[in-house]
Amino acid sequence: MPELPDDFPLSRSPLPPCVLVTGANGLLGQALLHRLAATDSKVLATARDDALRPSVDCDYQPMDVTDPDAVSTVFEDADPDVVVNCAALSDIGTCNEHRNEAWATNARAVKRLAKRCKEHRAHLIQISTDFVFNGKRGPYDEEARPDPVNYYGRTKLAAENAIREVGISDWTVVRTVLLYGTGTDLSRTNIVQWMMEELAAGETIHVVTDQHRTPTYAPDLADGIARVIERDATGIYHISGREMVTIHELAETVANVFGFDSSLVDPVPSSYFDDAVERPPKTGFLILKAESELGYDPHSLKTGLRAVGRTLGLDPAS
Ligand SMILES: NC(=O)c1ccc[n+]([C@@H]2O[C@H](COP(=O)([O-])OP(=O)(O)OC[C@H]3O[C@@H](n4cnc5c(N)ncnc54)[C@H](OP(=O)(O)O)[C@@H]3O)[C@@H](O)[C@H]2O)c1
Repeated sequence: MPELPDDFPLSRSPLPPCVLVTGANGLLGQALLHRLAATDSKVLATARDDALRPSVDCDYQPMDVTDPDAVSTVFEDADPDVVVNCAALSDIGTCNEHRNEAWATNARAVKRLAKRCKEHRAHLIQISTDFVFNGKRGPYDEEARPDPVNYYGRTKLAAENAIREVGISDWTVVRTVLLYGTGTDLSRTNIVQWMMEELAAGETIHVVTDQHRTPTYAPDLADGIARVIERDATGIYHISGREMVTIHELAETVANVFGFDSSLVDPVPSSYFDDAVERPPKTGFLILKAESELGYDPHSLKTGLRAVGRTLGLDPAS
């Protein structure tokens, strides 16, 4: 696309926008593709694999977000209106151990995406995390001051800051909390799926009583993002579930919903895991802004858990 002066008057195309999704083979990426399939948007899914894993009817192109040439090529070909960056190194331990890769994926690549979006006048929607906060005063609203306690959180906050530095006009940071759900051949499991599989197999699980979260059903987050796109909403949005629970309470709820033996749920403090990376104790979000501006209305925790259980072939107890 040719360079245009900054004040050149452009109106958004009346055609359904072209939405480019990065990290489309991940938990959120897959949920988002399914959600966008229900809209008129033209969707270009990208991921670092040769093929798209979920069966969704959309265009696909491989794109590693850390590869500047690949990113430029995709932007030139697709000239997207909206870019939703779901790609990330999202495992906290991996980020801590592989800091260069974490920085390249979670921070540097986002700055590059922001620059490409600025050139193409595309709206960048960056997915961020509750781990930008220190967890001393959760639940948090969008005005709260970030203060990450681990490397993953620092990379994600750096990405948020980079987007502002690039000076892109249309950007949205959607922060979320403890995502759960299922997908096709996901490269990593999530805590809810892990709890269900372990408890169903009769295994004891050790779960912390001192970390509080508002768990988020991935299709709910996908719906929130679709609403951001539909409304051209910009700025920061906190999008999560409504219910604040400890990880231990989450496991007990899983046990109750599916009738698993709750004595398998072993409550432990965070200090039980000696080599664990520091995590913020109490995060969770206040989602009033998303509810009032986007009409976001997430499922209850039990409803989300039942839905996940169904896809794993588990029957709820009641
Ligand atoms: N999961 C949570 O509890 C949680 C909580 C708060 C915020 N978030 C944020 O939510 C977003 C989505 O997370 P998620 O749970 O969907 O994570 P996920 O399942 O790990 O998905 C991330 C995807 O990004 C891909 N990816 C990694 N490096 C890439 C690269 N260089 N180029 C292209 N793709 C790359 C991964 O590919 P592979 O499949 O090949 O690994 C994976 O498919 C992330 O921004 C994360 O930080 C997640």
